[in-house]
Amino acid sequence: MRIERPTDAILDEAAQAIANGELVVLPTETVYGLACNALNPEAVRAVFKAKGRPDENPLIVHISTIEDIGKVASGCNGACKKLADRFWPGPLTMVLKKLDAVPNETTAGLGTVAVRVPSHPVALEVIRRAQVPVAAPSANVFMSLSPTSAEDVDPNVAESARLVIDGGHCEYGLESTVIDLSEDQPRILRPGAVTRAEIQAVLGMPLGQTPPHNGHLSPGMYPRHYAPSARLVIVDKVSEDAAGLTFEDPAQSRQVKMPHDAKAYAANLYRALKRLDALGVSEIQVESPPNTAEWEAVLDRLKKAATQVSP
Ligand code: TXA
Ligand code: MG
Repeated sequence: MRIERPTDAILDEAAQAIANGELVVLPTETVYGLACNALNPEAVRAVFKAKGRPDENPLIVHISTIEDIGKVASGCNGACKKLADRFWPGPLTMVLKKLDAVPNETTAGLGTVAVRVPSHPVALEVIRRAQVPVAAPSANVFMSLSPTSAEDVDPNVAESARLVIDGGHCEYGLESTVIDLSEDQPRILRPGAVTRAEIQAVLGMPLGQTPPHNGHLSPGMYPRHYAPSARLVIVDKVSEDAAGLTFEDPAQSRQVKMPHDAKAYAANLYRALKRLDALGVSEIQVESPPNTAEWEAVLDRLKKAATQVSP
């Protein structure tokens, strides 16, 4: 795994590689992504292969400026425009009607495409220099924890890439919010770094129901996801002898004290789970955060990580 600091030469090399159909691991403000030219079907197939990702699970297309939306989607008016003005660049992904230029490989054959403008300066600059829309799923093996730093990128995934650019620890540490704008009523498909309340405040209208986790109705939303290797259980209080995430002072070294603030918790969640996983524990107990709106995305990830069934 070749990890490089984002010098001017490295940004050029990464952009060139993407333009030429190769893969690169890029930092974003949410999680690290395994990036490729979104308009190149072969490159996209290589991304699915590297992750062991089922091909019915579409990728997010990243652009460096809202003007480039016209390269992949039919337009950005109404709700899209309002949300883009408020949240882009940033961790919000919008599902829009797609253009034919986007290959079926990227969108899993759907008539829609998921788009976002990331705010991480390294991601933005590489996309800008590559001069193509960039597809990037999280740089982890399917179903496992997303990496939030260069050293947390799975070496098996990185093997498929020319290089990993080290852009530091991700600001949000949790994937972008995915909102579907392809039908009349906007609805959140995946809770994430931008909260439902923040979106509602901008749109000034209620959002549709998030569809149930059914791989067919809503591709890519599997019951088990974002999971460590250890069994994850959500508990009221972490047992003294167990490995786990707690809000209190840890009883021992296999416990990690987590922040009470939802955003700070999210930024540290995957890293903390990875740390405990690396100890080889068989079970990780996670003290349940409050069941309130600001914790929606964290609770979503914890519930999925705690689910034992395969998709
Ligand atoms: O924060 C993020 O979004 C990160 C960084 C790298 O940008 N990327 C990421 O990608 O989380 P991935 O592939 O792990 O998750 C993409 C999600 C999946 O739940 C997928 O089903 C959904 O976006 N998605 C993509 N295209 C879609 C579409 N056309 N319709 C509905 N859902 C879509
Ligand atoms: Mg992912």
